[in-house]
Amino acid sequence: MTARRLCPSILSADFARLAESVRPVEPYCEMLHLDVMDGHFVPNLTIGPPVVRSLSAVSRLPLDCHLMIEDPDRYLRAFAEAGARYLCVHQEACTHLHRTIQAIRAEGMLPGVAVNPATPIPSLDPVLPDLHFVLVMSVNPGFGGQSFIPYSLEKVRDLRRRISERGLETAVQVDGGVCEETLPDLIRAGADWFVAGSAVFGAPDPAQAARRLQEMIHA
Ligand code: DX5
Ligand code: ZN
Repeated sequence: MTARRLCPSILSADFARLAESVRPVEPYCEMLHLDVMDGHFVPNLTIGPPVVRSLSAVSRLPLDCHLMIEDPDRYLRAFAEAGARYLCVHQEACTHLHRTIQAIRAEGMLPGVAVNPATPIPSLDPVLPDLHFVLVMSVNPGFGGQSFIPYSLEKVRDLRRRISERGLETAVQVDGGVCEETLPDLIRAGADWFVAGSAVFGAPDPAQAARRLQEMIHA
């Protein structure tokens, strides 16, 4: 079983003070989740490689880039050069998903594929052995602070079962509405990596919020 991880999403942090925002939570998490949005695949715009590069210079944490963009192949090298360690593309955004996964590895990053709430888990069966992780979206991507979609739990259970049956090491990451209330069910369902945006950076004391989530994750 993969070691569990807390992955704070900077989407809910103060973008004018990213370094200062991230530093206090660093002791309580294993990686940093960066949400990249293009205004096409999702109805929102966020950050790109320059911000990834700047954060990699000030944080010791591995950077996990969640690309919510169309035609991600065009930008893989730019994210690798900017310092991304984990690179996740959306199943729905890739016409030739297998090729994209190979390209992520060729750039020296660890590949993940995200599935939207309406995308079935079995659609990943052919590529599962090639993936370092799968991201189950438990909200529709595009914004922080949305409510957890309950049937995501069944998708996490289904994915965990498929990974175990095939003897794979693929990690199960979950993103959207992860907080103290939803965490226990997600842990029971078999998730490994927990992305939390508003539950960390939207809290009055982000370090305390991250510590609390980390205690639950590693209990
Ligand atoms: C949403 C992003 C998430 C977002 C999660 O499209 O992929 O990473 O930051 O935010 P919360 O944890 O507030 O649901
Ligand atoms: Zn995300």
